[in-house]
Amino acid sequence: MASYFIEGGKRLVGDIKISGSKNAALGIIAASMVLDGPCTIDNVPLISDVDVLLNICRKLGATIKQSGEGSITIDPTTVTTYESTHEMTRSIRASYYLLGALLSRFQKAKLTMPGGCDFGTRPINLHIQGFRSMGAKDELKNGIITLDATAEYHSGHLYMDQASVGATINVMIAATKAPGTTVIENAAREPHIVDVANFLNIMGASIKGAGTDTIRIKGVDRIPGNQHYSIIPDQIEAGTYMIAGAVTRGNIVVRNVIPKHMEPLSMKMKSMGIQIEEGDDWIRVSVGSNDVIKATNFKTMPYPGFPTDLQPQALILLCVAEGIGKMHEAVWANRFQYIEELKRMNADVTIAGPIAIVNGPQQLTSARVPARDLRAGAAMVLAALIAEGTTEITSVRTIERGYQDFVAKLQKVGAAITVGEDSEMLERE
Ligand code: EPU
Repeated sequence: MASYFIEGGKRLVGDIKISGSKNAALGIIAASMVLDGPCTIDNVPLISDVDVLLNICRKLGATIKQSGEGSITIDPTTVTTYESTHEMTRSIRASYYLLGALLSRFQKAKLTMPGGCDFGTRPINLHIQGFRSMGAKDELKNGIITLDATAEYHSGHLYMDQASVGATINVMIAATKAPGTTVIENAAREPHIVDVANFLNIMGASIKGAGTDTIRIKGVDRIPGNQHYSIIPDQIEAGTYMIAGAVTRGNIVVRNVIPKHMEPLSMKMKSMGIQIEEGDDWIRVSVGSNDVIKATNFKTMPYPGFPTDLQPQALILLCVAEGIGKMHEAVWANRFQYIEELKRMNADVTIAGPIAIVNGPQQLTSARVPARDLRAGAAMVLAALIAEGTTEITSVRTIERGYQDFVAKLQKVGAAITVGEDSEMLERE
């Protein structure tokens, strides 16, 4: 079991190149299973969630080749089964996109219910509602979900009472070959939804309206593929390093980003007194020696609102800000578990229902704390960067599920971070 050891108090300065978007890559790789020919995908992040999904696709029969750094060629024409019920399928959340992909390819799908980060119940009722509207019958037995649309498979209509990223992408993929025009209303609008739609369209699908709240998918007989596609930069990875620059009162340039996607964060940062400068594909975040970072209030919301996947990291920003700041988590029912760990680092945070209240600025101190989930783990690293002393963060594989070269990128800009064996494990040996 690996841990990170971080000596706090270093000012981070320099450039960080942002990798391809995790959540776009996962949607796109699963979506590639509907193609009738091969495709090449560039800017694929080298992270373990992507590796697991590629292995699940290999087990379905897909032929997948690494064709360069961050570039893969996927040939789904060798896929032979609509069943994926092994343990790997349960180990990541995004395997649920194979429900839509296999339904579209075989009009049948049989999958283990997906896992992923634990922040309360993570229902998939909206995905199922969409599949049902397309004629699919469903059954959940012993943790395995079966969809069958062999008797009738046609376009559907999904109105979501809550905009779900997963259901939007899944139903969009499922509808690519369903006869007629499927309509998704109150669709989620995250950049990675647009990216999955762009990928499918370039490969030969017919999807209109991705990025708005109404998406129309016209079913086509074949999706020929035989094209290249490059994945967008990761909005959450970029946001995490932007916050790292601010909390350490440093000067960080994130490169290979789409500044428009970063606005929910950069606008907030500006309002807090943090200096933001932007170019076509870069953003500089800096804090001068006399600058005061002022507290503010955040509320997580579907895009273009403030992303829930930056909530734990932004809470660390509130820890260094002057005044009372509030963080309202309005997407997930239970995404504050990491705050208990943060309190062990001397953070003074009060939780009132869905709102965490921080009275800053606070001097955090080192402790041995776990990475409870992907983004919470990244937040613990940010906390450690500003804490007095050396913090040990355990279970760091959780962080590497979603951040490519995390340690190397931080070291490059001056963080004192090393990887070692979990100290308690060593003591036990
Ligand atoms: N919801 C339902 N029913 C559904 C689906 C969702 O009620 O059928 C509710 C959820 O309970 C939640 C809200 O809708 O309250 C939003 O859930 P959504 O479906 O949008 O989340 P997801 O698709 O399961 C993706 C990302 C998450 C990210 C959320 C929200 C992937 C693989 N995961 O999850 O990313 O937090 O959207 O933006 O794309 C991460 O990257 O760390 C991560 C957890």
